[in-house]
Amino acid sequence: MTEKKILELIGKLSIEEKIGEITQIPGGEFINDVEMTGERNTEYTETDLALCGSTLGICNPETIKKIQKKHIENHPHKIPMLFMADIIHGYSTIFPIPLAQGCSFDEALVEKLNQLTAEETAPSGLHITFSPMVDLVRDARWGRVAESYGEDTFLNSRLSAAAVRGYQGEKLTDEGTIGACVKHFAAYGAVEGGREYGVVDISERSLRQDYLPPYKAACDADSAMVMSAFNAVGGDPASGSKFLLNDILRDEWNWKGAVISDWSSVHLMKSHGISTDEAVLSEKAVKARLAIEMCSTCYKNGIKPLLDEGKITMEELDLLVYDVLNLKNKLGLFENPYRFADKDSLEKAVNREETRRIAKESVCQSSVLLKNDGALPLKNKGEKIAFIGPYLENDNILGTWVIGGIDRPNARTVKSVLDSEFPQNEFIYANGCKIYGKEQSREVEFFSEAEDMETNDKLREKLINEAVEAAKDCDTVVMLLGEHVRAGGELAAKAHITLPDIQLELFRRVRRANKNIVTVILNQRPLDICEIAENSKALLDIWFPGTMGAEALVDMLFGKDAPTGRLSMSFPYTVGQCPIYYNTLPTDHSLEYQTHFATGYVDCPNVPFYAFGEGLTYTDFSYGEIELSKSEINMNENLTAKVKITNIGERDGFETVQLYIRDMAASVSRPLKELKGFKKIFVEKGETAEISFEINSEMLKIYDINMNYVAEKGDFRVFIGHDSRVEKYKTFELK
Ligand code: GLC
Repeated sequence: MTEKKILELIGKLSIEEKIGEITQIPGGEFINDVEMTGERNTEYTETDLALCGSTLGICNPETIKKIQKKHIENHPHKIPMLFMADIIHGYSTIFPIPLAQGCSFDEALVEKLNQLTAEETAPSGLHITFSPMVDLVRDARWGRVAESYGEDTFLNSRLSAAAVRGYQGEKLTDEGTIGACVKHFAAYGAVEGGREYGVVDISERSLRQDYLPPYKAACDADSAMVMSAFNAVGGDPASGSKFLLNDILRDEWNWKGAVISDWSSVHLMKSHGISTDEAVLSEKAVKARLAIEMCSTCYKNGIKPLLDEGKITMEELDLLVYDVLNLKNKLGLFENPYRFADKDSLEKAVNREETRRIAKESVCQSSVLLKNDGALPLKNKGEKIAFIGPYLENDNILGTWVIGGIDRPNARTVKSVLDSEFPQNEFIYANGCKIYGKEQSREVEFFSEAEDMETNDKLREKLINEAVEAAKDCDTVVMLLGEHVRAGGELAAKAHITLPDIQLELFRRVRRANKNIVTVILNQRPLDICEIAENSKALLDIWFPGTMGAEALVDMLFGKDAPTGRLSMSFPYTVGQCPIYYNTLPTDHSLEYQTHFATGYVDCPNVPFYAFGEGLTYTDFSYGEIELSKSEINMNENLTAKVKITNIGERDGFETVQLYIRDMAASVSRPLKELKGFKKIFVEKGETAEISFEINSEMLKIYDINMNYVAEKGDFRVFIGHDSRVEKYKTFELK
C-alpha cells in the first residue's frame, strides 16, 4: 500500500476504529490455551476484539489464520491484525539464552541464530518478536540479566544490531523474516539492587553513554518496533516519556517505527504516582507517541474524553494509527494478511538438522571454561568417571522465555547422551539431589515448582550417600549442578546468588570422598560460585544451553569440541559486591593511587571473582607487544593498533582478542577501561596470527561536562589482550 493510501485509510476510520488499532489484546482473549506473559486485568468487549489492531502470545499458523480471517471479514475496513510473541532465543529449536550468546563475542553467530529463529517463526504466522532485549545489566541479582547480552555497552550494541539483522533480513516482505522489537526502552537493567520492577534513577550522562547505545544500534539497524520499559528513568515513566520515546527515538535518532508499551505499562504509570486517571495516563502516552498499548485500556477509556476536551488533537491520535498501519504495510499485510502462515511450511522449517547442528555449535561458542587445572577434556578410555548431580537426568535446560503453545522437541538429558555416545563405557551415575532442598522453600513456592524440591529428609540423605559412594573410587567426578530454569528471566530477582544449599551440601560431601572434581554449572545469571570453583579442578559454565545443550556438553567434556565463550558479565565474589562490572568509573580513592585508603570493602576484594571477557579453552595463546602505527592522531586521522598472538598450546583453537581503551584525562571522569573492539579468531597450534584494530576519534567520543557528545584531546591508553584484566598498554595522543 502506498503512503497516500495509508493516509486515506486513516481518514476513513472512526475514533473507535482508531482506538482499536492502537490497543493490543492478549491472545488469551481469542483462544484459551495461550501462555499469558503478564497479569490479566482487563475486561474486553466483542467490539474491542473485533477492532483490535494486534494481539500477542498466539504462535501457531492455523489459529492465527483463523483469527485473522474472522477479523478481516468483520472489520469495516478489512485492516489485518498484527500477531506478536516473545520468541526470545528460538522458536522450536532453542538456542542458548541471550546472556550466553553474549559470551560468544560473535556478531555473525548472533545474526545467524536470529536468522534461523526467524526462518522457524515466520511460517507460524507471527509477525513480530519482542526481541532483542538489550538492557545493559550490571547486577546479578536481577533475574532478567539472562535475557541481555551483558554488562558492556559496545558488545551489547554490536550484538543488538546483529540480532535485528538476523530477524529482519533485507526487508520484512521476504520469507523467513520477522519484525524485531528492541526492548526495554530504556535502562530497565539499571533497577536499583537488581530488584524486579525496581527504581531506575541514573544520570543523563550514564543513560546516554552506557544504556542508550544498544537500543540505538537496534534502531539504526531498522528495528521495526521498540518496547517501552516498565520503569521510570529519573522519575519520568518510560511508557509516557516524551523525552525517551519522541525526543530521543525520533528527533535525535530519526527512527520511524512503532513503539509498543510493555504489558500494562501505560496503566501501571499510575503506580509511578503520575495519576490514577486513565485519561491522564493516555495523554502522557499519546504525547510521547506510544503507538500500541499492550494489554491495558487507558487508550480505550481515555482517548475519547481527551479528544472531547481538546487535550489531544486528532492529528496526535492519527500519528499513532499511522505508526501501526505503516508497520502492517512494511510487513506486507495489506497485500498478504496471512503473510507466511502455513502449517506444512512450518513443519519443514523447524528442527532442521543444520539448525540443530548450529545450535549445538552455539553452545560451545557460548560456554565459558572458567577454570581448568588440566582435568578437561576427559579421557573416554581407561578412566572411571562418575557423573553426579540434579542435571544428570534433567532435560529442563532450555532456559527462560521459552514460550508455551509450540510443540517443540525436548532437550536430551546428559545421561541419555552419555549412554548413546559411549555405550561401551562404564560410567557411574548418581542424581545426588533435587535442584532445591527445603532451605529454598520460599523461592520454590514463588516459582510453584514443588516437585523440584526435596522435602523428605530420609530420601535426601539416601541420595547424597549414594552419590558419595559413587564418587569414592572413581578417577574423576563430573558434578552437574545448576539453578532452576525458573530462576532466570522476569520475576526472578534474587537476594542470594549461590547455588541452592542442597547442591552445595552434595558438592561438599562428594568432595570429601573424591577431590578430583570437574564441575559443570547451568545458570542464567553470574553466581557466587567461589567455593565450587576453589574446590573443583575445572569449572565449565554452559548457562542454559537450549535444545542441543546435552550433546554439546558431552562433546566439550570429552574434547570433541571446545568451549570458546568469554564472560559477558562479571561474576562477583559475593552478592554483597553487586553491582560489579569491569568498566567502572575511577574514584578519588582508586586502587591505582591508593593502598590503604582505597575504594572497596574491608572484607572482600574490590574486583570480581571472574572478570568480563574471561574464559579459557583447550589451548593457550601468547600475546606479543602492542604496536601503534602512530603515537598521535588528530580528529580526522586513524591509527592502527596491532598485536601478534601465537597458539602455544596442544590444539588448534579460538581466541577472542579484545581491545580496550582508557581516556586518561577528560572534562568528566571516564572508565578505567572500555571495550572498543573484539575479534574471535581461529589459530592452528604453533601458528601466529596478527590482529589489528583501527582507532579514530569517533570511538573516543564522550558526553563532556556540558553534555556535548565530543572527542576530547589528550592521552589514551590502548590495551589489547585476553580479557578486561589486561594490563599491558601503549599510549597515543589525540591532538
Ligand atoms: C512482559 C515483559 C516483556 C515481554 C512482554 C510481553 O511483561 O516485560 O519483556 O515482551 O511482557 O510478553
